[in-house]
Amino acid sequence: MIEPIRRSTLEERKKWLAEAHYNVFQLKAEQVYIDLLTDSGTGAMSDRQWSELMLGDESYAGATSFYKFEAMAKKIFGMPYFIPTHQGRAAENVLFSYLVKEGNVIPGNAHFDTTKGHIESRKAKAIDVTTDEAKDTQKEVPFKGNVSLEKLEKVLVENKGNVPFMVLTVTNNTVGGQPVSMKNIKDTCALCHKYGVPVVMDSARFAENAYFIKTREEGYADKTIKEIALEMYKDADAMTMSAKKDGVVNMGGFIGTRNKEWYEGAKLFCIPFEGYVTYGGMNGRDLNALAQGLDENTEFDMLHTRIHQVQYLASLLDEYGIPYQRPAGGHAIFVDADKVLTDVPKEEFPAQTLTCELYLEAGIRACEIGYMLADRDPVTRENRFGGLDLLRMAIPRRVYTDNHMKVIAAALKNVYDRRKTITRGVAIEWEAPLMRHFTVQLKRLG
Ligand code: F0G
Repeated sequence: MIEPIRRSTLEERKKWLAEAHYNVFQLKAEQVYIDLLTDSGTGAMSDRQWSELMLGDESYAGATSFYKFEAMAKKIFGMPYFIPTHQGRAAENVLFSYLVKEGNVIPGNAHFDTTKGHIESRKAKAIDVTTDEAKDTQKEVPFKGNVSLEKLEKVLVENKGNVPFMVLTVTNNTVGGQPVSMKNIKDTCALCHKYGVPVVMDSARFAENAYFIKTREEGYADKTIKEIALEMYKDADAMTMSAKKDGVVNMGGFIGTRNKEWYEGAKLFCIPFEGYVTYGGMNGRDLNALAQGLDENTEFDMLHTRIHQVQYLASLLDEYGIPYQRPAGGHAIFVDADKVLTDVPKEEFPAQTLTCELYLEAGIRACEIGYMLADRDPVTRENRFGGLDLLRMAIPRRVYTDNHMKVIAAALKNVYDRRKTITRGVAIEWEAPLMRHFTVQLKRLG
């Protein structure tokens, strides 16, 4: 599908951004020239996926579409039980409703915001156990998404009997789409199992993670992406999946597990929240498109083409000396806003400010993955300034050309060149108590 191209003037963008309270989530899509807000649900489906839509079986129970999806999921992840849900956070909602109790502690390598939201809204605690290497954006290491086994063990020891599971996110979105090595996946599962704690893999970008294992980890160069994916999930107890990313569908998700008891428990929450267990919030036709998308997106050529486009954008930023989380991640480039807008204090949200500047410059909508997204500490209500403050430019799958990458890089260079003139950021005028970044209203300072 092709979208009409819409250009705008600086004056128009100034007006629209002010109306959006300096929060790019509040912009209308038609006010955006190149949309890098997310790679979630924004990919272009293939001819085969579109064909599958026509074969959708919309039976309420036992649709052939469910069995087509289930067979593909079993083949790729090697788990016996699958429950569809309408998207990733719905999978979290269903599974966590069964597993998370007030006061629980759930370690993870940088939980995604909805994952953290589903934990904290149940009055449980999410503890980040990502390797410290991820914090240094300029350090080039191949698997920056890894779990720190020392940090994880400390949490497991200190909270014995109170950890219902651990969340292992592949790739690690929050620290920059950074992969987790096969060795780290296996070591993490082994350590958790030693303490009797199951592992739930948050799998939104599992195929990109498998690509990085194939291209960066010794011993995997000759394995297929499908063989690697199967091995990644061998020791995991369950998975939640946002199929909007590596399933290359516009909407969809699922839960997978090896544990029959969990399957039965989750089913009880799926029915009231999502619908009967053979459709779980999805149309039959969309389950078909998902089965096809999973198959295609676990082929090397597809992943190679996609990840190379992201790396091409990174190479342009290298030419201009713009700092980003190195090496380039799978689905996006994460610009280190703290290192670009050095005069904007953290209390004025540098990465959020950079999203505004990039939009004003060229109508490009990126996304803050930083202090705004980090929300406040649920107990102290203080802003969480401890992590990275990044501007994420997510690249939708099969949508933009390399020429778009050039436009994006040039726009960012223009902002970078005038960075010393940007000394003030934004201030919060209104915010929601949880997941504030979607709806926060800001004012521009200075
Ligand atoms: N887990 C990860 C790692 C994610 O990146 C997301 C969504 C989810 C879970 C939730 O899935 O959106 O289908 O409900 N990430 C999107 C993003 C929104 O832009 O990174 P969902």
